[in-house]
Amino acid sequence: MSRQSMNSQGRQTRPNEATASESGISETYTGHRGLDKEEALIFELGRAGQCGVDLPALDNTDSRLDGLMRDDIGLPGLSEPEVVRHYVRLSRNNYAIDSGIYPLGSCTMKHNPRLNEKLARLPGFGDIHPMQPTATVQGGIELIDRLAHWLKTITGMPSVAMSPAAGAHGELCGLMAIRAKLTADGDARSRVLVPESAHGTNPATASMCGYKIDSIPANERGRVDLAALKEKLAPDVAAVMLTNPNTCGLFEDEVMEVAEAIHSVGGYFYCDGANLNAVMGRVRVGDLGVDAMHINLHKTFSTPHGGGGPGAGPVVLSEALAAHAPVPWIVHTGQGFDLHETATGDAAGSIGRLKSFHGQMGMFVRALAYMMSHGADGLQQVSEDAVLSANYVLASLKDVMSPSFEGYCMHEALFDEEFLKDSGVTTLDFAKAMIDEGFHPMTIYFPLVVHGAMLIEPTESESKASLDEFIDTMRDLAASASAGDVERFTDAPKLAPRKRLDETRAARSPVLRWRPDAETAEAAE
Ligand SMILES: Cc1ncc(COP(=O)(O)O)c(C=O)c1O
Repeated sequence: MSRQSMNSQGRQTRPNEATASESGISETYTGHRGLDKEEALIFELGRAGQCGVDLPALDNTDSRLDGLMRDDIGLPGLSEPEVVRHYVRLSRNNYAIDSGIYPLGSCTMKHNPRLNEKLARLPGFGDIHPMQPTATVQGGIELIDRLAHWLKTITGMPSVAMSPAAGAHGELCGLMAIRAKLTADGDARSRVLVPESAHGTNPATASMCGYKIDSIPANERGRVDLAALKEKLAPDVAAVMLTNPNTCGLFEDEVMEVAEAIHSVGGYFYCDGANLNAVMGRVRVGDLGVDAMHINLHKTFSTPHGGGGPGAGPVVLSEALAAHAPVPWIVHTGQGFDLHETATGDAAGSIGRLKSFHGQMGMFVRALAYMMSHGADGLQQVSEDAVLSANYVLASLKDVMSPSFEGYCMHEALFDEEFLKDSGVTTLDFAKAMIDEGFHPMTIYFPLVVHGAMLIEPTESESKASLDEFIDTMRDLAASASAGDVERFTDAPKLAPRKRLDETRAARSPVLRWRPDAETAEAAE
């Protein structure tokens, strides 16, 4: 019984014997395990001359294409059923919110209601084109306007820019608006203050806008150190970027003092609103002195996360910054809606266009569907339930793991590696062992202000039964670690389709794409 156990990339395609027998699972002839098929790369499956749709060759292709025929680009040849099966098998290796709890902190992986999907696919939304004349897409523009109204109402802010495509893009929009306002006032500034616990996108954005970053430490309560912040304030500070609730899952209770302090030196208050899902319906940032804040629709309003998109990160802006919002602007006319598409006339102060067309229409439909199906009281309950879930996890684990800060949390519970001290198990080992137990790990080693961080965000869409199963598993793993059962963690995951990466090798010599091996390359020449 033997089939090749390494593919052409040197990737293991079947469990090694030691691991297999350790886990009590014997090696199979095929390398498949149960109905989970080990999958080769599509290039390894493909054969020359095979294709999905078999059309007769066209006559005179060469002359009709006027010499534009391209050389063989080496795509793998497979029949239609082979392609379908390949991608279906790969998709079964995917972990998703539709498979189970996805407790990644700072990510808000919550259920995407199917109602939203259904509405986004209605032909009146799904089939319209952004280049249609405005008169023929009045309903689509009205939907964007209605969503903008809800975002302004929820945040208590007078203006909103809808087009940014993600949280980070929203940060860029907000800081560009701040820079434009300062420039218009003849008050160029050079520094932006960013707390140590901030998401990496905050300093990256400020730097992209040409600012120097000044880092503010956290205090012993996990909040921004107000005294340290005040010490750094001076007339060259353009803005402070504060996440609230912050990435330790804590409400910045001195937020109004922060607003007052930055305003006292003529700077602006950028609030990272990625965690709005914890305070929606309870706190309006407009009442806290915020000048600009992005809202990740894919977090708070349950639109799907994708590999970098399609997201949406609308930015609410204060009165002072509204004139600098990116175009297009929606204009109400007596007869309906129009679009102001360029930074001219009334929009002369605009930072210009940040994104093609109007933003991610499909996400707008989903977010508005989410808001309307919940209603104002429902949205408030969403944030209350998110906070309740996180506190349930915190309270249920705090005797066996080590919470980083005292007291209640907001929407995510933060633990550090203290409970693993002297156990021989690291935060990384602990997270990997969760995979063997069927759980996607929480966020680890972020935020950086605590050692070996484990940030758990259960969200409101988990049932108590699902939280209990998660909690029981975490308790069991914590008990194993403190009992010295290091075996359970070493080299975990042992049962997943892919084992522990050699992180050093992956970083130093990454194999980022398939290349034909030498033999194939030679034959192709
Ligand atoms: C606190 C915080 N800020 C900013 C971002 C960036 O948002 P996005 O991933 O939509 O660009 C995130 C995303 O996870 C976040 O958690």
